[in-house]
Parts: sequence; C-alpha cells; structure tokens
Amino acid sequence: MKVTPLDAPLGARITGLDFRDTPDEALAAEIRTVIHEHQVAIFPNQTFNAKQQLAFTLALGPVRKRKLPDDYVVPASSSDTPGIAYVSNIRDANGEPTGVIPDGEMWFHHDTCYTDAPDKFTMLCALAIPKTGGNTMWCNMYQAWETMSEDLKQTIRGKKALSVYDYATIEKPDLDNLENIEKAWQPCVVTHPQTGREALFVNRLMTCQLEGLTIAESAAILDPIFDHAEQRQFVYEHEWTIGDFIIWDNLAVTHARTHFELGDDRRLRRSKVSGDSLVA
Ligand SMILES: [Fe+2]
Repeated sequence: MKVTPLDAPLGARITGLDFRDTPDEALAAEIRTVIHEHQVAIFPNQTFNAKQQLAFTLALGPVRKRKLPDDYVVPASSSDTPGIAYVSNIRDANGEPTGVIPDGEMWFHHDTCYTDAPDKFTMLCALAIPKTGGNTMWCNMYQAWETMSEDLKQTIRGKKALSVYDYATIEKPDLDNLENIEKAWQPCVVTHPQTGREALFVNRLMTCQLEGLTIAESAAILDPIFDHAEQRQFVYEHEWTIGDFIIWDNLAVTHARTHFELGDDRRLRRSKVSGDSLVA
C-alpha cells in the first residue's frame, strides 16, 4: 500500500490494493489509520462489485443501512442489500431515478448528522461520470475550526446545534414542518474519538438553529461560519474517474457536489460505516 498525500488541504491517493479481496483486520486497521490521518482516502482503479464493496465496508466497521425517503422505490436491479445504495441520475423506463440524490449541485453537509449517531465513514465508487461537473468537494473541518477568530469560536463553543434534513440539496429544510422530519442536536464542535482533534461540526445544508436562539438569530451567527469554513483554502475538489473509490471521515470533513447536467449520466455506488453519538 503506497500512500501519496495530495497537494491539497486534505486527502491522499493510495495505490497497491485491490478490494476484490476483502482486507484482513490488520489491513483494515491500516486503512482506517490512513483515513483518519488524511480525512479523505482515494483508491483509484478499483473494479470490485457491490458484494465485494459490502464485504470491504464490513471489514472497516458496522455497515450503515441505506436510508431513503418514504416514497422512494428501490429499483429491483439496483441492489440486493440495504448496505449498498446508488447515487444516480440515470432514469429507468418510467423516467424514475435509479438511485438517491440524483441531480445537480448539493451544499456542504455531514452525512446523517440529523441522527443521534452520524456515519463514521462514507465511501463511493465511481461507475459512471458526467462529461462536466458533478465533482465532489470536501472541506477540512479541523482547519476550518482552528482558523476561526477567537470571537467567532466563542459564539458556538460548548453549544449544540440542530441539524435537520428533508432531502432538499441546495436549500434549508422547511422549518415550519419539523415534526415530520428527522433531526438531532449535535455539538457545534466535536472531539474526534480517534484523532483527539477538535473539528467544526455545523454545515450549511442541515444545521438550522443554535440552542437558546431563534432561527434568525442562529443564521446571523452560523452563516459567517459557513462562509469561513467553505473557503477554497480548506477545500479539495475531486474530478472523478471511473473506478475511483473514495472513503472519507465524516466527523472531520463536510462534502458537497458541483452542478452537472440532467442527462449527463452519473452513478456512484455508496456504502457507509455507522458511527456513535458525538463528544463535544
Ligand atoms: Fe452526503
């Protein structure tokens, strides 16, 4: 296994591994260490199938089950396991997407931060890539926190924030209808259980309110924090190649997606390692 750090605020490219073979515990431990060290681990030229990806995911930790909107119909051909989902804009014969979050831009977010135990790792394998756009961006939330002014840090240090998700991709959830959507209070700054480092844990897509403040008061504090965190100096943007398999540390980074055109096929196979409740 050869690890080459990217010339970027995060990330490393790792070669010499073929995930058609499930890693043993020693190798899985090495891979977890690399992810924790670089936040995003890029394994190019992987040719494994869904079953092998699921076995790989399980080697890294407990597999998170796929979560879908209530009205979403899982296409019969897409998967035979709730541990694998497809992020896909490809339509079936009825014009329905053959995967989750199919289209276009998506704001920065932490996966499943609206649940009590957000995902530990998310991983995607690129199966079809649009001619332009559909890049994934990751933001280094250690650096985002460390570089915040002391005044700005003080506004959220020790506080909790409400994260909500209702399947919009570039707008806040409908906050008048909170009873019917999943939500959770999370520490604004978390201590990473493996690295011991502090990371900012709020994001533009899902974080809506600070404890003790109205939504408007919260936005006045949070919007400048999102603007700070999403500066290019903390962000790595990845242009996908088919066969890229990328794993990220969901407690240490947020991720987002750039625009791409409807009809420009994009399909990624996703799996996740579930996490634990967070430590402030
Ligand atoms: Fe996501």
